Amino acid sequence: MGLVLIADSDARFCRRLRALLEGETDVRCDEVRTLEEASALLPLRRPDVLVLGSSVAPAVAVEFAETLRPDGAVAIVLVSSEESTDLLRRAMRAGVHDVVPMDQQFGEVVRAIQAALATSGPRLEEAHPVSVPSRGRVVTVFSTKGGVGKTVISCNVGVALAKLGLKTVLVDLDLQFGDVGIMLDLVPERTIFEAIQSFDRLDAEMLRGFLTPHSSGLQVLLAPVHPEDAEVVTVNRINAIISLLSQIADVVVIDTSAALDDVVLAAIDNSDAVYAVATMDVASIKNVRVSLQKLAQMGYDNGLIRLVINRADSKVWLDPGEAERTINAPVVAELPSDRLVPRSVNRGIPVVLDAPRSGVAHALGDLAKNIAAGCEEVSSSVA
Ligand SMILES: Nc1ncnc2c1ncn2[C@@H]1O[C@H](COP(=O)(O)OP(=O)(O)O)[C@@H](O)[C@H]1O
Ligand SMILES: [Mg+2]
Repeated sequence: MGLVLIADSDARFCRRLRALLEGETDVRCDEVRTLEEASALLPLRRPDVLVLGSSVAPAVAVEFAETLRPDGAVAIVLVSSEESTDLLRRAMRAGVHDVVPMDQQFGEVVRAIQAALATSGPRLEEAHPVSVPSRGRVVTVFSTKGGVGKTVISCNVGVALAKLGLKTVLVDLDLQFGDVGIMLDLVPERTIFEAIQSFDRLDAEMLRGFLTPHSSGLQVLLAPVHPEDAEVVTVNRINAIISLLSQIADVVVIDTSAALDDVVLAAIDNSDAVYAVATMDVASIKNVRVSLQKLAQMGYDNGLIRLVINRADSKVWLDPGEAERTINAPVVAELPSDRLVPRSVNRGIPVVLDAPRSGVAHALGDLAKNIAAGCEEVSSSVA
C-alpha cells in the first residue's frame, strides 16, 4: 500500500490519474492544486511519491524538488510537456526520481509512479516502523434535487456510524442553507466559517476545536450561520479541510446542497464513494441520471456512485430495479417513507435515535453498515 500525492492545478488531471492509480494498483492518493498546499501536506501525510503535474512549470518544479531534497523522504515524479535533456539533467540533480512526458493514457506516468513506489518501500518502513498513517473514508451524499432526503440521510447515517463506534465527522457543505444543525438540534457556536478564519494555522488538531459534538458521539462541522459567509469557503480550503478531517476520523460524511457547483464537485473529488439519493418518481430518477452523465463527461469515475432510493414505497409505478437499470449504479439502500421522519426532523432527534425500532431507522442503520464496510476495506488495505 503506497501513498501518492498529486499536485496540479488541473483537477481533471488529478482525478484521472487518481482513478487509474487507485483502480489498478494498491495505492491511495491525495491531491492538491498548488505547491504551497503540497508543502503543507507533505509533513502531515508523508506520501511515498509526489507527482508534480504538467501545469507546474518545469523550472518551478525543479526548484521545489531542491527544497525537498535534504529531507529525501519522498520520491518525486515530474510530468512535463517539455522534453529536453537539459530539464532531465536539472531534475535529476535536484533529486527528482523521474521525468515523464504527458500522454493521453498516462501509461508512462503510472509506470514511473510504480517504479518510484518500489524504491520507496524500505525507506517508508524505516520512517514508520509501526504502521503507515491511515486515512478515513470520505463519502458524499449527493443529489441535485432538493427535498429528496440528503440531510435526513446524512444526519442519520452519521449518528448510526458514531453509534457503531467509528470516529465520524459530518460536514455540512450546504454552505448557504445548511440545516444539519437544526436536524441535530446543535447550537452553531463554531462553524466551517470560523475554521477558515484560522485557515493559515489550521492543522488536524486545531480543526477538532471547530467541530460541534452531538450526544451520539458524532462530530459535526456546521455550515456558516450567515449565507453570505459561504463565499470564503473556496475549493482549495474545502480540499484541505476534508483532507485534515480524514486524518482524525474513520469516516467523513459530507452533506451537500442541491447543486452541481464547484463546492459539490470538491466534495465528490475527495470522496471514496458517492451516495446519490433519488426518490421513486420519474423526475427524480431522470435528474440523477442527467447529473451522473454530467459527472462522467467531466471525467468522474461513475464506479464511485451508489444509489439510495428514499421513500421507496411511495405509491408510484417505478420499482428500484428499474431505477438501477436507468441510472446504471447499484442500489445499496431503499428507505421507506415514514411519518416518523418529519416528526424526528421537527424534534431535532434523528429517527435512528427517536424511533430506533422503526423500519426506516433499520434501513438507515443498514446503510451506515454499508458505509462502515467500506471503512474496513480501507483500514485493512492500509494495515
Ligand atoms: N423517508 C422519509 N419519509 C418521510 N419523509 C421524509 C423521508 N425522507 C425525507 N423526508 C422529509 O423530506 C424533507 C426533506 O428532506 P431533506 O433531508 O431536508 O432533503 P434534502 O436535504 O435533499 O433537501 C424532510 O423534512 C423530511 O421530513
Ligand atoms: Mg439538505
